[in-house]
Amino acid sequence: HKKGLQVAIDGPASAGKSTVAKVVAKRFNYIYVDTGAMYRVVTLKAIEEHLKLDDEIKILDLLKKINIEFKPGNPVQHVYVDGHEVTNQIRSENVTNNVSTVAALPAIRKELVKRQQQIAADGGVVMDGRDIGTTVLPNAEVKIFLIASVTERAERRYLENKKNGINVTLTDLKREIETRDYKDSHRKISPLKKAKDAIEIDTTSMTIDQVVDEISNLISKKIVEIKNN
Ligand code: CDP
Ligand code: CDP
Repeated sequence: HKKGLQVAIDGPASAGKSTVAKVVAKRFNYIYVDTGAMYRVVTLKAIEEHLKLDDEIKILDLLKKINIEFKPGNPVQHVYVDGHEVTNQIRSENVTNNVSTVAALPAIRKELVKRQQQIAADGGVVMDGRDIGTTVLPNAEVKIFLIASVTERAERRYLENKKNGINVTLTDLKREIETRDYKDSHRKISPLKKAKDAIEIDTTSMTIDQVVDEISNLISKKIVEIKNN
């Protein structure tokens, strides 16, 4: 790839994908692409337009008309739809609880996968999601599968919510994460699954820095390996 490697980071909800992917991308001067945000945007728009969330044809129609853009930012990357910022709206409980339904629609996946492949075509990209290593970038030079226990992931989300003034109980968060994991792992089209050649990292008792270092080392090693070939 012209501009660098393709790095795929997959895993279940709140495993730390976006947090880690963003820092890793910065280290290597790669772009970071949050594919979950793209599914969230479609869900937000479908809700706003009062569409039935299993109405594949109408939702695809809507998706074809919208332009989704990312702009780097700290601590979160900014997300825009046709120039309007939706960074916060796409993280609402309503979107979170419905996104897996929309993400199961084959036509929506096909369209978003196409856009994701275009963005990553020249490399120099860290992309996180559920199906990046298996479907979107099957030839990615580095594939990571991040996991952590459900309890740990619910606690992480709880702390994150608290910082943002959002009040959801730990029990509700745990249930929400389990439901979404189940739906994402059991859908017919490109379910959440570790790619055969992905490296699994269990982050349950790791700090963000430790995870970032481990992934960065894997990327650096791969860069050297490719140079020497
Ligand atoms: O950040 P969090 O783990 O809560 O989720 P996300 O990465 O924002 O993804 C939200 C939802 O989008 C997931 O639960 C999946 O249903 C869907 N998704 C997907 O199907 N495929 C992807 N490549 C990324 C996200
Ligand atoms: O993108 P994904 O849903 O996989 O997770 P995230 O939104 O990046 O991370 C969820 C939360 O876990 C964030 O608040 C992180 O600060 C925290 N965290 C982490 O990502 N990695 C650790 N090793 C420890 C905590």
